[in-house]
Formats: sequence, C-alpha cells, structure tokens
Amino acid sequence: MHKPFSQACENNRSPIGEVLIPLLSTSASVLELGSGTGQHAVWFAQQLTHLHWQTSDRMENHSGINQWLDESGLTNIGAPIALDIGRDVWPTQPFDAVFSSNTAHIMAWPDVEIMFGQVAETLSAGGLFFLYGPMKYSGVIAAVSNRAFDRRLKESNPRQGIRDFNALDRLALTAGMNLLEDNAMPANNRLVVWQKT
Ligand SMILES: C[S@@+](CC[C@H](N)C(=O)[O-])C[C@H]1O[C@@H](n2cnc3c(N)ncnc32)[C@H](O)[C@@H]1O
Repeated sequence: MHKPFSQACENNRSPIGEVLIPLLSTSASVLELGSGTGQHAVWFAQQLTHLHWQTSDRMENHSGINQWLDESGLTNIGAPIALDIGRDVWPTQPFDAVFSSNTAHIMAWPDVEIMFGQVAETLSAGGLFFLYGPMKYSGVIAAVSNRAFDRRLKESNPRQGIRDFNALDRLALTAGMNLLEDNAMPANNRLVVWQKT
C-alpha cells in the first residue's frame, strides 16, 4: 500500500525547521498534534536526534503515519497516540514542546479552545507551543489565495475556517502562554510560537 503523501509538508518543512530547530536545541520531548501523514515527524526527528518526537492524530490517520515511521527506521519517534482534540484523553506526562501544523483551521473552534488549554497543561514550565498555518489579523485575511481557501473550507464545513491570530493569542494568554514569536512563512502562512510562563 502506498504511503500517504503531502506536497505541502515537503514544501514547508525547511522554513518551519529554520524556526523550530534552533528553539528546540535543549528540549527532550515534543508532542505533535494532528500529525497527518507523519512526514513532518520523520523530517524533524531526523534533524532533532537529541529529542523524542511523539506523533498523534485521529485513529483514521494512524496507519499512514505508521508507514512513514516504520520506513524511517528512526528510534526517536513515538508511534501515534489516539488524540482527537476535544474527545480523547490527553497524555499525562509533560512535554517540552508541542507542534501542530495546519490543524487550527480544520478543527472546530471549540476544539481550538480546548487545544490551547490542554497544550498549556501538557507543557513543562517554559515549554513552547508552535502553531503553523494560515491566519488572519483583526478579522482580515490579507492574501487573496487565503481568502479563497477560507471560502472553500467554510463551504465544505461551516465549522472550519482560517483563525484570527488575535483570538488565538487571547486563548494562549488565558491558558498561561505568552507570545514569543510570530513568523511569516512562505505561501502566506505563519509560524507562531508561544511560551508557557
Ligand atoms: C490539513 S491536515 C494537516 C496534517 C499535518 N499536520 C500537515 O501539516 O500536513 C489536518 C490534520 O488535523 C487533524 N485534525 C483535525 N481535527 C482534529 C481534532 N479535533 N483532533 C485532532 N486532530 C485533528 C486531522 O486528522 C489532520 O491530520
């Protein structure tokens, strides 16, 4: 059976890595939310051999993630845990960082709220939350391509849609995480980093 493949992951992994990798130089563990195909996990675990990268997603994506993990032969990646945000129980052990790519606009807003609260619970003191994807600012989606993407998302599921950076930052603050960096990424995406206080 062919492994699932995401061209977006191939395109965005290096720009994400330029921000992520230096900030994780002393971290021991990362929890990835919504690992998707598993490509990011394999790529980042290859670069970050000093830490353990724990994948997670809804059950329907586990077999694809496992194919990528098995083929990689890497020993510093954890097989996916079943983590449907808003429904499943979160891991109880602390992680030094949480990474999630292209998930906040896919899950319903109540699940985004739960994600921020649970991420803050899961992070160790000083831990980092990396959230990658398209975002709007003060309600405005700047890029034409992202406006069209937002329309397509809402047509397919009215609970989906590009999230507002300011609303996400408020969730972070409420959960006890301060904004560390808001990085522009290629293709009109952002990589935002919050730090647990
Ligand atoms: C567009 S894919 C992105 C996958 C991968 N992170 C990437 O960047 O290619 C969205 C991912 O979010 C996951 N997802 C959506 N809603 C979720 C939820 N409520 N809990 C956990 N994962 C969710 C999906 O299963 C899927 O893996």
